[in-house]
Amino acid sequence: MSAQPDTVRRITVPDLRARKGGTPIVSLTSYHAHTAALVDKYADFILVGDSLGMVMHGMDSTLGVPLDLMIMHGKAVVRGTQRALVVVDMPFGSYEESPDVAFRNAARVMKETQCQAVKLEGGARMAETIRFLSDRGIPVMAHVGLTPQSVNTMGGFKVQGRDEAAWAVHVDDARAVAEAGAFAVVVEGVVEELADRITEAVDIPTIGIGASRKCDGQILVLEDMLGLNPRPPKFVKVYGRLGPMIEEAVKSYADDVTARAFPGPDEVYK
Ligand code: KIV
Repeated sequence: MSAQPDTVRRITVPDLRARKGGTPIVSLTSYHAHTAALVDKYADFILVGDSLGMVMHGMDSTLGVPLDLMIMHGKAVVRGTQRALVVVDMPFGSYEESPDVAFRNAARVMKETQCQAVKLEGGARMAETIRFLSDRGIPVMAHVGLTPQSVNTMGGFKVQGRDEAAWAVHVDDARAVAEAGAFAVVVEGVVEELADRITEAVDIPTIGIGASRKCDGQILVLEDMLGLNPRPPKFVKVYGRLGPMIEEAVKSYADDVTARAFPGPDEVYK
């Protein structure tokens, strides 16, 4: 009998990679320790997404998110979790310039947060960087289709692949990142048939968001599915009513304070 306390085994990159075509991969974003601890029980991987710029910090897009902020939230999520693989997003401007710059910044993310992998956006154009990082011990999750860091180039957060003529480019992007060594690829905001073609075309798990049920896994922004975002994207199924619940709780608290109705120290400390 071991004298060691039971420890929870964390899901690894090869575990996730091996789920291609298997049981669907469950994933959510999380940006802070307490929610990460709850998500950890059910998710195979947790993404510390750069969507935190919009969700946590009220930005209009993800473009203004600095690397230090990703590292700060990444540390919190790793501290809050034991089981799920933690992936941290590389923010805009931290990896596109060259494989060397990407390696320097991704290595910082891995060292300082102790996460297990990074995610970066882009298809064929990022293949060289993905190979450079994964050959040097940094597992990379890729992200194709609607890539929010390219919002200005795309002219908005637009569903991709409405025009069938563009499908080949997206499929080639997914193939390029898989061949370069990405262990999984997020497929965001593309028409369903294109998402299905991408899933068939690559031998790594596809993680859908606003894409297709047939992807190898799904991801949602936690706050969207919890009902905290008053205007969630159309494809989001809302599983909770946290926004109204928080408002109700805050109102009850304000009413208690106003009426001096909360318990006093003599009742609490006895
Ligand atoms: O930043 C993020 O949360 C993401 C997911 C939406 C995939 O990239």
